Amino acid sequence: MAIRLGDDAPDFSAESTEGTINFHEWKGDSWAVLFSHPKDFTPVCTTELGRVAALKPAFDQRNVKVVGLSIDGVEEHHRWSQDITDVTGSSLNFPLLADPDRTVANLYDMIHPNANDTQTVRSVFVISPDNKVKLTLTYPASTGRNFDELLRVIDSLQLTAEHKVATPADWKAGEDVVIVAAMSDEDAKVAFPDGWNAKKPYLRMVKQPN
Ligand code: BEZ
Repeated sequence: MAIRLGDDAPDFSAESTEGTINFHEWKGDSWAVLFSHPKDFTPVCTTELGRVAALKPAFDQRNVKVVGLSIDGVEEHHRWSQDITDVTGSSLNFPLLADPDRTVANLYDMIHPNANDTQTVRSVFVISPDNKVKLTLTYPASTGRNFDELLRVIDSLQLTAEHKVATPADWKAGEDVVIVAAMSDEDAKVAFPDGWNAKKPYLRMVKQPN
């Protein structure tokens, strides 16, 4: 079944390059990113895994655990990891799940049969500390993902988890944000005592709270 925003992120147990992972236990009360790859030893996936390895400090800084998935076995993953280091200069520093029987892929609806009936599409799930799905992305196998964009969305999700604000188009951390429409001007005066810039009554821009 499709996974939708706000759903509980399904739990699972799977082998990985870092041993058996019991997903909820491994994740604990951190944020998590679970992202899938169609297959080992494929060119786009190789570049993606190296990029995520290079960005690991940025995920750590945001209290986000990252875990990849590819449908091949742990042995193949270990052999492939050498190529990832050779090609990208970054070594796998997060677990890569093995999913040869597609248990996790099916649980997270990562196989879209009209695209490919055996390999996963490029799915991304961002999961909050309370194990709710906060973002889903689906890219085709032929398009590598933009992981800077993923960090940008995580910054937005973490900001809106703590403050009654939303983030506008192309927002980046540090730029002005939007007071949520559901907040009355009266309540906004308390929450944002320095005031805001009302471009429209429903579009009130304010400095990023944190
Ligand atoms: C790739 O990672 O390069 C790839 C994987 C599956 C289909 C197409 C490209």
